[in-house]
This record gives sequence, C-alpha cells and structure tokens, in this order.
Amino acid sequence: MKAARLGVIGLVVGVVGAATLITAGCANEQEKRGHELYTHYCSDCHGESGKQNQGFNWSAMPDPKPKDLSNKAEMGTFKDEDLFSTISRDMLDTSEEGGDPIGDDDFAVPTMPTFKYTLSEDEIWAIVGHVRTLHGMKMEFNVAARKISLEEGLKAAQAKFEQTKQAYEAAEKKASDEAERKSEQLKKDVDIDESAYAAEQAAMGQAKKEMDAAQVALNNFSTRPGKGVSIPRPDLTVKPAEAAKLADRGKRLYENKYGCNGCHNLAGEGGKIGPTLDRAGFRLNATWIYRWLKNPQAMDVHTRMPALGLSDADAKAVTMYVATLRAPKAEPVVQKPTEKP
Ligand code: HEC
Ligand code: HEC
Repeated sequence: MKAARLGVIGLVVGVVGAATLITAGCANEQEKRGHELYTHYCSDCHGESGKQNQGFNWSAMPDPKPKDLSNKAEMGTFKDEDLFSTISRDMLDTSEEGGDPIGDDDFAVPTMPTFKYTLSEDEIWAIVGHVRTLHGMKMEFNVAARKISLEEGLKAAQAKFEQTKQAYEAAEKKASDEAERKSEQLKKDVDIDESAYAAEQAAMGQAKKEMDAAQVALNNFSTRPGKGVSIPRPDLTVKPAEAAKLADRGKRLYENKYGCNGCHNLAGEGGKIGPTLDRAGFRLNATWIYRWLKNPQAMDVHTRMPALGLSDADAKAVTMYVATLRAPKAEPVVQKPTEKP
C-alpha cells in the first residue's frame, strides 16, 4: 500500500516537474524565436543591440532616424501592449493634404514598417519580448492567456451565431406558415412577408461577421496572415490620364504612408535594405509589382520586405508609380577637355 502511494506521489511530482520543464522550454524557444526574428526584420535599421547608427541602414534613412531601443529611460515608458501595437498596426497616410486623420496617440512614422500582415501574433509577441531585453526589462504580458481569450472569444461568437441563426429560422418559418395559412384562406398564392424576419436576418449576418473575425484573429495568432493567400491577377488597364493621376497618388503613398523610401533608394536618396528602384519600371512588369506589394512572402518566404497591408486601390496606385521609374542608365562620367577661353 505504502509503496503504491509513494508511486502516485512520485508520478504527480514527475508530471508537475515535466509541465514546468515544458513551460520553461517554451519560454526559451520564444526568446530564441524573438531574437531570430528581430535580427532578420529589425536589426538592419535598429542595430543588433538596439543602439542608434549600428544597423547598416540607419544612416541612409530619411528623418526621423530609428529610435534607440536600448534606452531604458525612454523605452521603459512604453507598455508591452504599446510596443506590440507599434509593430503591428495599420499604416497611416501622413500627407498634410488629403491624408488620414492622425490622433495624438497614433504612432505614424511611415518609415517604421508594420509587421501586422507579415508575422503571426505570437511571433510579434516574441519580438516584443526580445525588444524588452535590449533595455534590460522583461515582458510581463501573458501571451498564453491572450491565446486562451482568443479561443474563448471564438467560442462565444460561435454560440451567438448559432442563437441568432435559430431565431432567424424560427421567424422565417413563422412568416412562411403565415403566408401558407393566408394562401389557403384566400385560395390564391400569397408572398411570404420578408420584412417580418428582416431584423433576425440582419442580426444573424452581424453575428456571422463577428464569428468570422474571431476565427481570423485566432488563426493569425499562430499562423502568418499571408500564408497560403494567393493574390488574384489585378486589372491594371487604365486610361493614360488616369494612370498619371494614380502614379501621383502612388508617389505620395510611397513616401508618406508606406515609407518605401526607408528601405529603397531613388536618385541617391533613401534606405539600402532593398534594391535601388531607379529603373524598376524597365525591369519589372506591373502585374508582378502589384502582387509583390500585396504579399511579398507569397513569392519569397524569407524576404525582409514586409507586407505593408496595401489595399487594392493603394497597391494599384503604388504599382503605377513604380512602373514610371525609368531613369536613364547611369552614363560613365567622361571628363571633357577644359576649353581655354
Ligand atoms: C526600415 C527601417 C526600420 C525597420 C526595418 C524597423 N524599424 Fe522600428 N523604427 C524605425 C523608425 C524610423 C522609427 C521611428 C523613430 C521615431 O519615432 O523617432 C522606429 C521606431 C520604433 C519603435 C519606437 C516606437 C515609438 O512609439 O516611438 C520601436 C519599438 C520599434 N521601432 C521597433 C521595431 C521592431 C521590433 C522592428 C522589427 C520587427 C522594427 N522596429 C523594424 C525604423 C525601422
Ligand atoms: C523593410 C524594408 C522594405 C520596405 C519597407 C519596402 N521594401 Fe521593397 N524590398 C525590400 C527588399 C529587401 C527587397 C528585395 C527582395 C528580396 O530579395 O528579399 C525588396 C524588393 C522590392 C521590389 C522588387 C525590386 C527588384 O528589383 O526586384 C520592389 C518593386 C519593391 N521592393 C517595392 C517596394 C515598395 C513600393 C515599397 C513600399 C510600398 C517597399 N518596397 C517597401 C525591402 C523593403
């Protein structure tokens, strides 16, 4: 008997021990992942240890220059959630005229890219964890609890959908029974009164939307948003006058919304992470450019160019702009013999 009891206790201790080991193992795995992702996607601009002018792209960038992520006095004022929402946000058009409304709390530097459309949520949390270590802090945000809340959110949204669906079906049946009854009474066909269940139908539609959104949020927690998404061939035929207008808008978006100039060089200005785009209009075909901009990872999983969340209209405008980049080939500089007066 005694031996058996000890056996059970031994088993319990063993299981708890294993669980602790697994949690610790996951934490290490997350730290390692965060470090790798930071090195790949952030260090060109921010430097391996977060210090300014350490990343090779730092000095080539337009102002404002990438922040010093190792500065605890400043970085310590941000909550984990603040860091997350900087890295995972929608880009805002910072153009003074016709741009997006920008609130005091909005982070809107176009040349700090978003990774919302490139990385999964848990990858972004892993990066936040690594950024914390650069200024000697530890992330406190509970990522496991976040996942559970997304799972519970989905369950609740599914239950609500089921409920609204039943209400809709009942209301629809009632209206159709009513029409049948009338039709027998009057001995002629009577239309079903659709307005009698319009409210239930609308509620069901809304609940379906919420359920789909909860599903997407849960999927994006552990899967990259662009994974397996193929971009349909765009229709890029436009009249010449419209093409010029689109290209103008595209140029504005290139600088003021998506900060492409933080990574790409044009006429000697801008970052150096991506190739120079001076002659991109000769080299690349418009359909290819469009699809690349929408989802670069679909063409090259490891590219450091993030998917920046371009809408179809924005992607079209930026494509039109890139297609106009047709600088002449750089001529070798020939020194002319100086003419004597
Ligand atoms: C193309 C260059 C570039 C890349 C790549 C880049 N950043 Fe930045 N980052 C910037 C710039 C520019 C700023 C804005 C500095 C400012 O506001 O003064 C910035 C600001 C930040 C800030 C401060 C935000 C705030 O509220 O002030 C954080 C945190 C940050 N970046 C984290 C990251 C992380 C993490 C990655 C990688 C996932 C990354 N950055 C990738 C250029 C870059
Ligand atoms: C964080 C840096 C970064 C940002 C921001 C960025 N790119 Fe890129 N881009 C790259 C890199 C790196 C490549 C090279 C592809 C590769 O090999 O990974 C690239 C490739 C390209 C190419 C293909 C060039 C060629 O010669 O093959 C085009 C076109 C392009 N980017 C346009 C844009 C536009 C337009 C934007 C803004 C909407 C943008 N990029 C934003 C880094 C960036």
